[in-house]
Amino acid sequence: MIRKARIEDVKAIHGLLMHREEHEGLVLPRSFSQLYSHLRDFFVVVDDDGKVIGCCALNIIWDNLAEIRSLVVDPVHRGKRLGRKLVEACLSEAVTLGIYKVYTLTEQTAFFAHLGFEPEDMDQLNQKVFTDCLNCPRFPDHCNEVAMIMNL
Ligand SMILES: CC(C)(COP(=O)(O)OP(=O)(O)OC[C@H]1O[C@@H](n2cnc3c(N)ncnc32)[C@H](O)[C@@H]1OP(=O)(O)O)[C@@H](O)C(=O)NCCC(=O)NCCS
Repeated sequence: MIRKARIEDVKAIHGLLMHREEHEGLVLPRSFSQLYSHLRDFFVVVDDDGKVIGCCALNIIWDNLAEIRSLVVDPVHRGKRLGRKLVEACLSEAVTLGIYKVYTLTEQTAFFAHLGFEPEDMDQLNQKVFTDCLNCPRFPDHCNEVAMIMNL
């Protein structure tokens, strides 16, 4: 089941994002403080026992721009279309909010292309570069991420 994240999910989300072996270092870690303040950005997928097995966040960047970030599905549960459902939940929320351009920075270009995202020039995402990227330890020389965008 996919639902909006609740406060009791934060430790599990933190676990998914922090365990590099779970996502092969493809997702930036986030502190508890960041997770608490951005909790409303998150969707989670839970199994039948209520365990959080995936997460994804929609981060509003500007007046018509949002970012999909922190997408992880527990390796045991991959290939069940949970990643797709998490991304689609974020896209649906963007439309509800009146935001029609959603991008992600990712090394998983084939996955996002499969979902309909297209490569985008980073120069078109100045708001992102001047907020998060400048503070990222991987920026600029150790970043392998590609910008991909979907116009809704
Ligand atoms: C990327 C990730 C979230 C995908 O989750 P998943 O639940 O296994 O993916 P899904 O089963 O929802 O796949 C959805 C579709 O994409 C396809 N797909 C999955 N991975 C793919 C890949 N690497 N390349 C191309 N297509 C892919 C699937 O075949 C499926 O197609 P369909 O819906 O038409 O049948 C998961 O592999 C993961 O957590 N990876 C590590 C963290 C990561 O890289 N996150 C992204 C950071 S931006």
